[in-house]
Amino acid sequence: MRKVIQIVPTQSVLEGGGFKVRRPYSMGRLLSPFLLLDEMGPNVTGPGEAVGAPWHPHRGFETVTYLLDGKMQHEDSAGNKGELNPGDVQWMTAGRGIIHSELPHEEFQKTGGRTHGFQIWVNLPKEHKMMEPRYQELSASESPTIERDGVWARVIAGECMGVSSSINTVIPISLIHVKMEENAELTQKLDSQLNSMIYVFSGKVTIYKENRVKENPKIFGFGIKQELDDGELGILSKGNELKIRSNENSEFLILAGPELDEPIARYGPFVMNTREEVEQAFLDYQNGTFVS
Ligand code: FE2
Repeated sequence: MRKVIQIVPTQSVLEGGGFKVRRPYSMGRLLSPFLLLDEMGPNVTGPGEAVGAPWHPHRGFETVTYLLDGKMQHEDSAGNKGELNPGDVQWMTAGRGIIHSELPHEEFQKTGGRTHGFQIWVNLPKEHKMMEPRYQELSASESPTIERDGVWARVIAGECMGVSSSINTVIPISLIHVKMEENAELTQKLDSQLNSMIYVFSGKVTIYKENRVKENPKIFGFGIKQELDDGELGILSKGNELKIRSNENSEFLILAGPELDEPIARYGPFVMNTREEVEQAFLDYQNGTFVS
């Protein structure tokens, strides 16, 4: 059974054109294959005040945008264009290169309002970093959701309570949004070899410690608390099952994926294996050969 082995606090930073995100410290080094976990907002803006991320490139990984509140519009160099409404997911595999813009929707700009959501970066293994870019959308109405015994879940990737996502991932990924009523319980099966973590963004949850293995003092030094508060990211031990109880009404993401165990050379929107590959990405971008 999985337990919390590290708790990572979050910091508030400004991203893109200056929108506020809540981001775990040291995310990029913490948990392969996830490179970034940004909680966008929640932010309330007046008419014309919302900001986004104007045209910028990506290479070597995937960006997953999940909107909870607000309305966004996006456009990319492959000719994709669309909007994101609450509950919608955009799973973009940048692969060898994509240039896109992610902005508040024009209609939203007229009224202003609340924006809340997530952007998650998923690394690609070496052999897929230069794959053909692709783009998957999962609308709120099409996305698999399930509700049972005080637990509601939207399965963005992977499986939860018997429902599976249609998103096609390059490597095995679980990404599940869960809402739990106070004292509800969820047992989540996970491939025992995958890394996993939970990010709580409302309320408080406890990870069960049944069959708990004594903490290894060489690694941890002391017992790690198994409660996760709002704004805490809990890195979990390996195991084939995760049992969560909500101390109060709570909301969180469960993320899981494989350890890639490859060097990461990262600069801004490029995540490759070597410094030379990152320099090549810059050159391609400058030369106009980044996308074809
Ligand atoms: Fe982007």
